[in-house]
Amino acid sequence: MKRIISPSILAADFGNLQSMCEMINRSEAEWLHIDVMDGVFVPNISFGFPVIEAVKKHCNKLLDVHIMIVNPGKYVQRFARAGAEMLTFHYEATENPLEVIEMIRAEGIKVGITINPDIPVSELEPFISKVDLVLLMTVFAGYGGQKFIEDSYERIDTLKEMVDRLNPDCLIEVDGGVNAENAPKLFAHGVNVLVAGSTVFNSPNPEKMIVELLKIDN
Ligand code: DX5
Ligand code: ZN
Repeated sequence: MKRIISPSILAADFGNLQSMCEMINRSEAEWLHIDVMDGVFVPNISFGFPVIEAVKKHCNKLLDVHIMIVNPGKYVQRFARAGAEMLTFHYEATENPLEVIEMIRAEGIKVGITINPDIPVSELEPFISKVDLVLLMTVFAGYGGQKFIEDSYERIDTLKEMVDRLNPDCLIEVDGGVNAENAPKLFAHGVNVLVAGSTVFNSPNPEKMIVELLKIDN
């Protein structure tokens, strides 16, 4: 089973983005997670295209862009051009998720769909066969450093059953409150990609922490 760590730059030092990218390039992280927040879909505002473009210049890992914005379809092309290789939008943020999926596909990049913890996983069923990744939020989108919601394991199991049945190639990603204690359990439940912000970037040795998160039996 594929196991990937996607460190979230939301918790990185924005005064040193280039050295952060160089650390990620050296590390065992296969992806880099980029959180875009618009202050409307979520209460917080993070950053936009210029930061993604700057990261793209220095980072040679897959850019895993998570857009927490209303009207995601409007900006699909801009995110693709800025360097997104996996673009994940919120199901709750659009009236027409299928249209957004098709727009992302038309850019020739990978497509992900995500939901907050209060949306039933079953609502994703019609989209599973059409996406490359489903991201289950394990905190409410908006801020880094929140506590992992323990009820998430049941939601992961429901999603895993749906993915196995409908699209076994679809990756399962989780985001929010991931740490060295819950990482092995998350992988054991069938999660493929762990997003980790504060756990990686607040660690005295982020590269070592990435290796630690990848261990299944610690
Ligand atoms: C939250 C973001 C997360 C965040 C995770 O809305 O989507 O990606 O950066 O941060 P941690 O790992 O600190 O919970
Ligand atoms: Zn995220």
